[in-house]
Amino acid sequence: PLMIKNLIIFGTRPEAIKMAPLVKEFRKYDEFFDTKVCITAQHREMLDQVLTFFEITPDFDLDLMKPNQNLYTLTSSILSGLKTILETYKPDYVYVHGDTTTTMASSLAAFYAGAKICHVEAGLRTFNMQSPFPEEMNRSVTGVVSNIHFSPSEKSKHNLVLENKPENSIIVTGNTVIDALMFSVNKVKNSNYQDTEIEHLKSGLDTEKKLILVTGHRRENHGAGFVRICEALKEIAVDNPQTQIIYPVHLNPNVQGPVYKLLSEIDNIQLIAPLSYPAFVWLMDKSYLIITDSGGVQEEAPSLGKPVLVMRDTTERPEAVEAGTVILVGTNKDKIVDEANKLLNDAFAYKTMSKLHNPYGDGKASQRIVSYIKSKLNA
Ligand code: UD1
Ligand code: UDP
Repeated sequence: PLMIKNLIIFGTRPEAIKMAPLVKEFRKYDEFFDTKVCITAQHREMLDQVLTFFEITPDFDLDLMKPNQNLYTLTSSILSGLKTILETYKPDYVYVHGDTTTTMASSLAAFYAGAKICHVEAGLRTFNMQSPFPEEMNRSVTGVVSNIHFSPSEKSKHNLVLENKPENSIIVTGNTVIDALMFSVNKVKNSNYQDTEIEHLKSGLDTEKKLILVTGHRRENHGAGFVRICEALKEIAVDNPQTQIIYPVHLNPNVQGPVYKLLSEIDNIQLIAPLSYPAFVWLMDKSYLIITDSGGVQEEAPSLGKPVLVMRDTTERPEAVEAGTVILVGTNKDKIVDEANKLLNDAFAYKTMSKLHNPYGDGKASQRIVSYIKSKLNA
């Protein structure tokens, strides 16, 4: 074709952060591509924050988020919501990202519509269907229906080869999260840039104290896992009065409930609303240590040289674990507390883990994806 019709679909905060650089890159070549953006709005406020920062106005908005939504209704409303859009716009290529319900349901819808499916961040695997749940299933199903797999690393490519995906359908690009991180760091550095959220954070930081930044939301940690996480954070805060813990709490009610109940009263723990992307990146950069169960944060932190304790038993992102800057601590209270205390009190242990490295990308992943799709023009 002389012109390719693209439909980029996403629904949650991390998908938006990681797809924003691709939207921007495609839009540089409007003479070759008609690129439309569809959001399922599986997330609402947390997604809109990202769209505002990256200045992306979606062409279609399914506006699906419901309080405490369940996987059954979310999956079915994404599928049925996309039908008309796919049938009227008739995209040649549909782009989905990662491993959320939006990813899985949108790739299935695109398969029904007969579009070519491109999976961005393809091939991450723990090979354990229950961890993370339901993400391992989501990315595996999307892998099955995808025509082109944009893998962030050689390891993720290898996982797809093990699943018998044709080698020529797998393109190693790096992870677009590093494109987003670099864009954000550059935008914030600009002298004209003003951000009231960052100013507010600045005024609340005690520079005498070591900052621990915390995030968490994984479904398999809901319930008992979050209670142990909160107990661990409380113990770290009480044992180490010279630290300041800042925790932007995910809006999922299964997270908000235990976190606010168990941690509201501790002096050196600040529970705050989810931060916009630049403010969160700014805070990562100011932090001494990050404790999280997030996928994206595990990828960003090494680029900022920050040690990470990952509150999960498995990870599909082994590169930083192998490099020694990420440690898996699960939701075991004693392990979280012991590893945090070690990093707070043992300068050598801290230095060893604070290595700046970029195992997840060089900031050019979206350029590589767009050049690959360009090669399909006139083909
Ligand atoms: C989802 C993804 C997970 C991803 C995470 C990123 C699934 C099943 N889960 O988990 O893979 O890592 O997003 O954050 O796809 N809510 C709001 N406002 C928002 C966002 C969420 O109020 O902007 C609340 C709502 O009550 C919503 C609930 O959080 O029903 C859960 O949202 P959902 O997207 O289903 O699950 P997450 O835990 O966010
Ligand atoms: N993030 C953000 N504001 C916050 C917390 C996280 O912008 O208050 C960003 C973070 O930098 C990363 C992404 O959100 O890029 C991670 O999202 P999340 O942890 O919700 O999902 P996951 O990566 O685990 O799928």
